[in-house]
Amino acid sequence: MKQQDKLGTDPYRGTRDFYPEDMVVRNYIFNTMSRVVESYGYVEYGASLLEETALYRAKSGEEIVNEQTYSFTDRGGRDVTIRPEMTPSVARMVARRRKELAFPLRWYSNPNLFRYERPQRGRVREHWQLNVDMFGVESVAADIEIISVAHNIMHAFGAKKGNFEIKINDRRITNFLLTSYLNINKKQVYKPSMLRKVINLIKNLFYRPSPHLVTLHVHQLSKLIDRKGKMSQEDFVEQAQDVLGDKTETFVNFLNNKDIDNLPEEFTENEGVITVKKLLKDLNEIGITNVVYDPTIMRGFDYYTGMVFEIFDTGSENNRSLFGGGRYDNLVGIFDVEKVCGVGFGMGDVTIQDYLETYDLIPKDLKSSTDIYICVFASEYEKDANMLARYLRENGVSVAVDITNRKIPAQIKTADKKNISFIICIGGDEVVSGRYKLKELSLREEREVDKDGIVQVILENKKER
Ligand code: HAM
Repeated sequence: MKQQDKLGTDPYRGTRDFYPEDMVVRNYIFNTMSRVVESYGYVEYGASLLEETALYRAKSGEEIVNEQTYSFTDRGGRDVTIRPEMTPSVARMVARRRKELAFPLRWYSNPNLFRYERPQRGRVREHWQLNVDMFGVESVAADIEIISVAHNIMHAFGAKKGNFEIKINDRRITNFLLTSYLNINKKQVYKPSMLRKVINLIKNLFYRPSPHLVTLHVHQLSKLIDRKGKMSQEDFVEQAQDVLGDKTETFVNFLNNKDIDNLPEEFTENEGVITVKKLLKDLNEIGITNVVYDPTIMRGFDYYTGMVFEIFDTGSENNRSLFGGGRYDNLVGIFDVEKVCGVGFGMGDVTIQDYLETYDLIPKDLKSSTDIYICVFASEYEKDANMLARYLRENGVSVAVDITNRKIPAQIKTADKKNISFIICIGGDEVVSGRYKLKELSLREEREVDKDGIVQVILENKKER
């Protein structure tokens, strides 16, 4: 092979390798999440990495389908997409068996997802995402439970209340704002700048948006609200003006107000407002006080119909949302079956790991899944070491035997580097007496035990962790 033909060892752009020490952290993160969601009675499901592309066209939204999916035509001519999110798959699964399933469903999964995004802090092309969803409960009680689960996951990670904030909104408030309150209609006069006209023209060529102007304007403004936090106030106002003209000020003022009790009178009867008020009150009553109303929370997907929420770091290190979700009452309906309502959230591994690192919340003593390392004084004792290892494995202990015939200090160093909690060394004395010096590496502590003693100490140690 010529020099320039040699292959690089980096993973594909935007994806990560997980070496064993990285897997330990990833497993810690997902075991913590799973423990919390299972404690609420959520059970695990799974699905394939591949779905027909049509599934995402139906409701995920244009940005994700046109710009972010890995899509291809398979050998049979079908349009296929590597899943960029799990919600359409789970909705499909629910629709498929809705007659047999025992509602309400409390389901969770931990899939890897692919999005063709520009890699940056908090954004990669393959991430793992905890999905927690409840199906079949229309009332606010389900929204409360979902937000509580999200809150308690943060709590289980050791996050302090003051260090994160739950921002909630409701799509019905935004819909009312745009369609009724601002009364966007076909006669709306708007004068886009020349540059914007060209941009819109190009966008429209590719996006094929709805031909109805009203829908288009509402859609444009929804996307604009969604991007508000990521652009300057001037750009935001300019783009809002393109659609809203002299109603821009009312629009901006509405979005700047964070007091749900201080909305214009027309909003009093709005279902979204009633829901957000109830959520704030009920969550406060159960001790979740770091929750606020924020009318700029939109969430990118088109399928949300009610409450939407996002969790933010209150510090300045992680300026994007850590994770979020909401209610989607019509998604299952796209499969031509009767409606089943759903509410849930997705929590990515990258953003939460960034957060945990920022606040130094990843435990320092995360251990290997190997409980004990057996060092061997000379190769003639390997057979005895393997017999002991077999006994320990049969009793629930995971064991690795060093078969390198190196000097003992080198073998111990290997165990230490691999973060294995315990070691023993086996030679002539141990084989004859059946007693071993069991050393706990992190404590530099040693005790003499027989093989059952090893089992007992290790199993007790595992229970404590
Ligand atoms: P999402 O907001 O697109 O929602 O993603 C949820 C979370 O996944 C994000 O807040 C972030 O933690 C993580 N995430 C998303 N994209 C990336 C990326 N490119 N790199 C790293 N992390 C990422 C959904 O996907 C909804 N389907 C969630 C949901 C479930 N709604 C209801 N049920």
